[in-house]
Amino acid sequence: MPTSDIGLDKTLAALGVAQPDQVAPLFAKIQEHFAAQFSLVHDESDWKIFRDRWLGRKSGVLAQVTDNWLKPAPPELKRAVGAALNELRAQVEARVEERRLAIEAGADETSLARERVDLSLPGVIRPIGSRHLIRQVFQEIEDIFFSIGFSVVEGPEIETPYYNFEALNIPEFHPVRDDMDTFYLELPKGAPEPLLLRTHTSPMQIRTMEKRQPPVRVIVPGKVYRRDNPDATHSFIFHQVEGLAVDTDITFCDFTGTIEYFVEQFFGPGVKTRFRPSYFPFTEPSVEFDVSCIFCGGSGAAASGGSCSKCKGAGWIELFGAGMVDPAVYGFVNYDAKKVSGFAFGMGIDRLAMLKYGVDDMQVFFQNDVRFLRQFP
Ligand code: DAH
Repeated sequence: MPTSDIGLDKTLAALGVAQPDQVAPLFAKIQEHFAAQFSLVHDESDWKIFRDRWLGRKSGVLAQVTDNWLKPAPPELKRAVGAALNELRAQVEARVEERRLAIEAGADETSLARERVDLSLPGVIRPIGSRHLIRQVFQEIEDIFFSIGFSVVEGPEIETPYYNFEALNIPEFHPVRDDMDTFYLELPKGAPEPLLLRTHTSPMQIRTMEKRQPPVRVIVPGKVYRRDNPDATHSFIFHQVEGLAVDTDITFCDFTGTIEYFVEQFFGPGVKTRFRPSYFPFTEPSVEFDVSCIFCGGSGAAASGGSCSKCKGAGWIELFGAGMVDPAVYGFVNYDAKKVSGFAFGMGIDRLAMLKYGVDDMQVFFQNDVRFLRQFP
């Protein structure tokens, strides 16, 4: 029902309206049109067209009524037309707004329906990380030593030569320093002493004994640094766990018993162990501790014939250095060397992890390739 046939483009005079009582039927006709068109408005775009057609400022139906009927109306009609127009406007505006709200609510409902989260669908699985194998091995070692009364201490990776060398009975020109040369920090001129990246976790022996009186039973997990070129068994950064037990009556038997207990817990029963004489400036006597080769069962022979490539046919694999704490070390920490005794050990964690988990290249620990890491969730 188009509005063009209501006569909106003509004046009242042209429509033959001269009496106030002729006005009401005209507006009734407009109401009829409004009702008919309004019933067709269902969505937002219908609604916009409809609103403009009725309320548009320039050519909307109400604007035309105002311009063509009201304004040129003779004084005797003005009142009646004005009143009817106001009533019409109020109605039109109210219904248009009403419909807008209804359409909006409906649209919300449909978008709600569209966007509803279906909880019955399988979710997106976001993989969570896991501990690095080295961390896991640290944890295993800590658990074993916890179970026999050790506690964990940690120390600085930047050390002074005093803690890294001197207090461990390694004076400045001792040849053992050659093996352990490392990274010195560039310090501003006038710095009180040089600083270096620790070459082993052993400085924590000194720091611990400075702070605590015997009995001392600690392990020290941490990173250490050396001027080594990277290859399958070397890296300029690697990991150690230091151990130190000092009391008034610790014997070599306590030492071997502790180490053997650890190895059995870590690698499982069935590995054989042996101590070989060795030398470290901070232990006396010093030993290297070996386990029977995990790969060939200690036979030295490869399953495919020939000799085992891991132990090079020896049947033994060197695990770590250890020994009874050299009495000279006690002198640096004000322990009475006549009253106390103890043992210390320092193991390379990367090596232990490689042996236990069959990793044949140490570099994979530092490359963080997830294909490797995922194998140890
Ligand atoms: N600190 C030594 C190293 O890194 C390992 C070591 C040997 C530690 C004997 C000790 C020990 O505590 O008693 O080569």
